[in-house]
Amino acid sequence: MAALAFPPQHIIMALSKVQALYDACDLVFSSPAAAPTVGEIRWLQHLLDGMRAADVGIDGGDGESTSSSSSSSDDELGPKGGRLLPARAFTRITYVHIHQCADFSMGVFCFPAGATLPLHDHPEMVVLSKLLYGSVRVTSYDWVTAPPPPSCSATTRKSGLARVVAADEVRRAPCKTTVLFPRSGGNMHAFTAVTPCAILDVLTPPYSEELGRPSTYFNDTTIPSLPGFAFLEETELPEDFSVAGAPYLGPQLTVNMDYDDEEEEDDDYDDYDE
Ligand SMILES: [Fe+2]
Repeated sequence: MAALAFPPQHIIMALSKVQALYDACDLVFSSPAAAPTVGEIRWLQHLLDGMRAADVGIDGGDGESTSSSSSSSDDELGPKGGRLLPARAFTRITYVHIHQCADFSMGVFCFPAGATLPLHDHPEMVVLSKLLYGSVRVTSYDWVTAPPPPSCSATTRKSGLARVVAADEVRRAPCKTTVLFPRSGGNMHAFTAVTPCAILDVLTPPYSEELGRPSTYFNDTTIPSLPGFAFLEETELPEDFSVAGAPYLGPQLTVNMDYDDEEEEDDDYDDYDE
């Protein structure tokens, strides 16, 4: 009698929410020539809307264990059987890298109360953001004219007139997933945590210095004679600003091996030191 061929573990078990999100992103974003449709964006927003901090291995402080595939009854245990990441206790902005390939990235920014992520852009990107817990104050802008070219030249600094999309708008979890586009939705934004909070981000395509998609930071100056607009000028990151890195403790992802560009832990962040 022929041996049975068992399906992979992730097929036997119910799909974790983060796996479902990855699979959807892989399906939608793996054709870079085609921009995602409105229907596809709505689908991804719906998946993100259903996610909790525990679904990505983070303790959101709501007593929830992972609500996806885990059968654990211990609210403090993550899907790997270890503790959930105690992100509410972090004292620095901390990035939890989940996945990055050529087409998209997934990760979580965890903020202590009062921390600010300075005004920055997302060149040529679509970004979906889900506030997992807490409250955050958001200021965002879109360029009035077409986005300036990437600041590939040291002598060229991005600057220009921008329209205010959100002015010190406070978002409180639970709330709907937001989406920004290359020219709308608030492509440049800044966050200040009102309480400890965490934001799950999906970026497509990811930042890439080599491919002309660097992260650029800005100063914004309001224009008294032109309410609703501001002048944005590229600036350096404050010297005392840094983002720590923390390990991803959520459900293990099964990634599409058609691609060999999987990047491991992002080197742009300091080591987790909580
Ligand atoms: Fe951002």
